Amino acid sequence: MPTKTFHPPLSEVAQAIQPFRVMKILGEAKALEASGRKIIHMEIGEPDFPSLDCAHQAAFEAMQQGLTHYTPTLGLPALRHKLAEFYRRFYDAQVESGRFMITPGSSSALQLVLTAILNPGDKVLMSDPAYPCNRQFVKLLHADLVSVAVDHHSNYQLTLAKLKDHWQDGIKLVMVASPANPTGTVIEQHELLAIAHFLAEKNAYLLVDEIYQGLVYDRPAESILANKTLPDNVIVINSFSKFFGMTGWRLGWCVAPLPLMPVLDRLGQNLFLAAPTPAQYAALRVLEDDALEQLEQRRQVFERRRNVLFHAMQQAGFNLKVLPQGAFYLYWDVSAWTDDSETFAADLLQQTGVALTPGTDFGEHKARQHLRLAYTTDEKQLQIAVDKITQYIKHLPVKSPA
Ligand SMILES: Cc1ncc(COP(=O)(O)O)c(C=O)c1O
Repeated sequence: MPTKTFHPPLSEVAQAIQPFRVMKILGEAKALEASGRKIIHMEIGEPDFPSLDCAHQAAFEAMQQGLTHYTPTLGLPALRHKLAEFYRRFYDAQVESGRFMITPGSSSALQLVLTAILNPGDKVLMSDPAYPCNRQFVKLLHADLVSVAVDHHSNYQLTLAKLKDHWQDGIKLVMVASPANPTGTVIEQHELLAIAHFLAEKNAYLLVDEIYQGLVYDRPAESILANKTLPDNVIVINSFSKFFGMTGWRLGWCVAPLPLMPVLDRLGQNLFLAAPTPAQYAALRVLEDDALEQLEQRRQVFERRRNVLFHAMQQAGFNLKVLPQGAFYLYWDVSAWTDDSETFAADLLQQTGVALTPGTDFGEHKARQHLRLAYTTDEKQLQIAVDKITQYIKHLPVKSPA
């Protein structure tokens, strides 16, 4: 009997979700590597360092002691207290531990928060370019996106003036990240505070993604929570992924206004029950002083890499419009050579073995004329990468002006 082919019916929303294009480049880079090519990985957004030994030890000891069960959905009370203390010590921010929720990566925190506040048809405003998944979370909840194009004139960040210019009825949430992905730029605290107050008047929330907090250069790390006159419409998300170098442990947190906490708890109980328990014990350990000192050393390595890469790119005559203040990314305008950053990135990888991410992951505004470079490889490799890119570009025809 002929077998009938099953075509699984899919939800409309699942079909509308866009892939993460960096994964495609990563897949191609891995395939080339498997065939024996040497690849310089500057595509993926995670620190190249392994997580700290003390984190491994703490997780292992917890497991040996049988601490492998669910924690409360909001997280281990000790970790929520430790984070509150961390904000008091390093950011002079007085935030009670009851406002912290520990989540499986900040990705879960983002989904929880958006689920807690958005109805279908509500509007969410964010910059373009911005972290790709946020646009997809908005779609998942049948909410609508309001994109605001940003460029070097505003340090690739939203400003109060831009927000006012693009304001529409129905905006319930504005999302910013500082430092940002893909540009590495920072939004100044006075601007953020002004935005928070403007949104409070409009009865809308401000979500500040501080996931690259701690990875800042030539300036102190900051949190909007340090602000003494902060209105209570502000939600912060953060993570152990980047500064703490623990991407694979899947651990993040959010700090929300108290009235939201029972709602986040109820959603978390249903969506993931609790964040991974061994990871929470490891997190307690990396918040100790000796671990923070080691992480500071790594921050300094990233700072040196930023300087090396930025100056090498400048020397090569490439168009970098701002010196990023944080994270581990440079956003590079390649409009002199292409209007198709995806093909450019694919060809660059094939020809030179340098893997970069096309701007199309991060939005639509000039996305086909930009590439993101991640300095998640050592200084020598960064220099080699710039040499290879320079050679590659020498053989490209310069585009005639449109
Ligand atoms: C700006 C930003 N927010 C959130 C995330 C999510 O990270 P995680 O779920 O590992 O905490 C990322 C990851 O790259 C990011 O760049």
